Amino acid sequence: MKTYDLLRGKRGIVFGALDQHSIAWQAAKKIKEEGGSFTLTNAPMALRMGEIHRLAESCQASVIPADVTVVNDLEKLFEESMTILGGKLDFILHSVGMSPNVRKNRSYGDLNYDWFLKTLDISALSFHKVMQTAEKLNAMNEWGSILALSYISAQRTFPDYSDMTQAKAMLESIARSYGHRLGKQKNVRVNTISQSPTYTKAGNGVPGFDKFYDYAHKMSPLGNASATDCADYIVLMFSDLSRMVTMQNLMHDGGFSSSGITEEIIELL
Ligand SMILES: NC(=O)c1ccc[n+]([C@@H]2O[C@H](COP(=O)([O-])OP(=O)(O)OC[C@H]3O[C@@H](n4cnc5c(N)ncnc54)[C@H](O)[C@@H]3O)[C@@H](O)[C@H]2O)c1
Repeated sequence: MKTYDLLRGKRGIVFGALDQHSIAWQAAKKIKEEGGSFTLTNAPMALRMGEIHRLAESCQASVIPADVTVVNDLEKLFEESMTILGGKLDFILHSVGMSPNVRKNRSYGDLNYDWFLKTLDISALSFHKVMQTAEKLNAMNEWGSILALSYISAQRTFPDYSDMTQAKAMLESIARSYGHRLGKQKNVRVNTISQSPTYTKAGNGVPGFDKFYDYAHKMSPLGNASATDCADYIVLMFSDLSRMVTMQNLMHDGGFSSSGITEEIIELL
């Protein structure tokens, strides 16, 4: 595909590349193609699976372990990243999510509350921790761009999405509050991208994902947006072409969120 050099000279951190299906994996590849440089990070346990090192090699990126819920880890990550990359950062991609309740198939009426708190910590509060750490270390350049990945369950109920629903609502709210703060301070923009169902480790963890994926595909005039489509949108949002977009939840879903019903669904009924 054609490249545009949109991120030439820009530096950042990419959270959440686990394997080649990950949205963050595809984003890292595109950011590199567009001239950006970055460090890659994931939880120490995820790094042990080893796949990220393949990505790191192809992107000439360093890998720095960090549990996104641990502020100490985040401080080290930001400090090391600025040293390795040679300056402050222009972009951060938070592509992290996990719910023990979803993973262990707990019904919404039988949630484990310790796990619920874990879901919120990993999938939402961590976004605040990332931005608060960046602010305290003065790690962002003026006109930088920060993104997290969300899902439409923040606005509408999808029963099998369980406590991730609350996590996404909180994530989007944090983007607005911190977007205000960083906008005033440094002209840094903060947004969430609300992505179509995508076949990844996190996506496949949701019960009935196959059928759900097909439903969303049939309900979207353009079909589901893929991880590589999402990577393109992430590049746009990190580029100077989106400088005045902030505190938004940006639907990247082939039209799903504005559709009432489609011919394909009527045929099925
Ligand atoms: N796949 C979908 O259908 C879909 C749809 C909309 C939004 N999203 C969101 O996209 C983002 C990326 O998910 P994905 O679909 O690429 O799946 P993925 O499983 O590839 O990525 C999730 C990442 O979170 C990381 N992670 C989990 N706990 C962590 C911790 N404590 N510290 C640091 N990292 C941790 C995992 O190691 C993994 O790399 C998530 O926020 C997810 O909710 C996914």
